[in-house]
Amino acid sequence: MSPRETIHITEVSPRDGLQNQPALVSTADKARLVALLVEAGLRSIEATSFVSPKAVPQMADAADVIAATRHHEHVRFSALIPNLKGLERATAAGAREVAIVLAATETMNQRNIGMSLGQAIEVSEAALVAARDQGLRTRAYVAVAFECPFEGPVDPADTIRLAERMLAAGASEIVVADTIGAAAPGQVTELVRRMAGTVPVERIAMHFHDTRGLGAANAYAALEAGIRRFDSSAGGIGGCPFAPGAAGNLATEDLVLMAEKSGYDTGIDLFRLLAAVDFAQEVLGRPLGGHSVTWLRQRLKAEGSRSGAGMSA
Ligand code: COA
Ligand code: ZN
Repeated sequence: MSPRETIHITEVSPRDGLQNQPALVSTADKARLVALLVEAGLRSIEATSFVSPKAVPQMADAADVIAATRHHEHVRFSALIPNLKGLERATAAGAREVAIVLAATETMNQRNIGMSLGQAIEVSEAALVAARDQGLRTRAYVAVAFECPFEGPVDPADTIRLAERMLAAGASEIVVADTIGAAAPGQVTELVRRMAGTVPVERIAMHFHDTRGLGAANAYAALEAGIRRFDSSAGGIGGCPFAPGAAGNLATEDLVLMAEKSGYDTGIDLFRLLAAVDFAQEVLGRPLGGHSVTWLRQRLKAEGSRSGAGMSA
């Protein structure tokens, strides 16, 4: 039997998950959520974003979040930045990894970061070069990679061209984001196959939202096409405030369950992950969880009473 391959998950709930929440979450609660995610086995976490506090008040404490989380060892923390000012704030706060966000369409860049597509490309390239010069690891999101809420379906050639440019500017990793959760598995297969012609597949991460229930199916299509890096959010919390219709992210518990049962290792303990979901639920005051969470809670009740019981899938 061949050894199980590992998939790498970047947990985005502290940023993509919380940025859209109406109730302000305290820095202490964000740090507690991160600690629970680390306990569950997550080793790459997008902790916050250095964006305008006027645009996203929930992320106004970005520097404090970095300060409150960076003591965790062997965990890569990243912070999303929209521009060079964001990079400056992130490095001043001690961030070691940043994620730039470039949307594939003109309108989405305007709505999200107030720039034309051309400006957004230039700013993203400048930020990637500057970040690399400072020794930071970088992730480059290509947002609305499949469909834009304003302009409709996106030509895969456009998404691929932007990914290539971000790679050329020095991005360590390209994050193909289905921001509004509009992709279907066949489209994922096609995009990954085509993109892999010019962007090394090990440098591509897929970021899915589960708006129409296809998140895990899309992740499976990506796995089959050779992708081993994924973004997901505990409890499925998430969504972009500037992209109408963007519902929750693919839930980390659903991704882990799908991957582990399909023969891949994730390094995540699902019972411990459930503790993070329960905590987020308590803080946000509403029920959370991916499709698998009810089943997971039943399993925990049935066998979790064993002290220190852990479950991978
Ligand atoms: N962090 C904090 N403040 C920032 C900033 C940053 N990264 N970039 C700009 N600003 C400040 C400016 O200093 C200025 O402040 P002032 O009003 O006190 O003078 C104000 O924001 C406006 O800056 P301006 O350059 O005119 O840009 P804008 O108003 O068009 O906003 C962004 C541009 C990019 C700052 C804003 O649209 C943004 O933060 N978007 C992020 C959206 C997001 O997080 N989306 C979800 C994740 S994909
Ligand atoms: Zn997202």
